[in-house]
Amino acid sequence: MKTQGGIFMKNFVDYSSLAAQLAALTEDVPYEIANLSNAAALLWQHLPDINWAGFYKMEGGALVLYPFQGKPACIRIPVGRGVCGTAVAENRVQLVYDVHQFPGHIACDCASNSEIVLPIHVKGEIWGVLDIDSPSIGRFTEEDRAGLEKFVAVLEKMLAR
Ligand code: SME
Repeated sequence: MKTQGGIFMKNFVDYSSLAAQLAALTEDVPYEIANLSNAAALLWQHLPDINWAGFYKMEGGALVLYPFQGKPACIRIPVGRGVCGTAVAENRVQLVYDVHQFPGHIACDCASNSEIVLPIHVKGEIWGVLDIDSPSIGRFTEEDRAGLEKFVAVLEKMLAR
């Protein structure tokens, strides 16, 4: 629990510490799936108020389900479809306040109400995405985006090795 000026900061996450933990966990580990599994587990353990956290990897021109935590999810997402496919098509972070207002949102878990998707780049190409869902509308903020960009930067280094 974190307060600032006596005000309780709902959903505070120490993203610098999380990125450092990820770097320590994945350092010198040459197994992509093992590292991504631990990355999903770290997010699941430390982010309050989420119901899914994991990865989709570009395979054969579409996003394919990779290590995650949460309920079983859709296996293949075409580029341009849903929040994940839009993140790839537009090559930018999608911070979705209310998924029900997002045209073409793909509902894997009907409990999801907000979502953030970050593209992951390796050697100048989109490797895939990090996707996190929350049961609360408006769960993700600009602070989450900035923190998760640090987390993704650690993954990008690991994936480029
Ligand atoms: N909601 C995503 C699909 C993946 S699940 O959330 C795990 C989308 O619209 O792309």
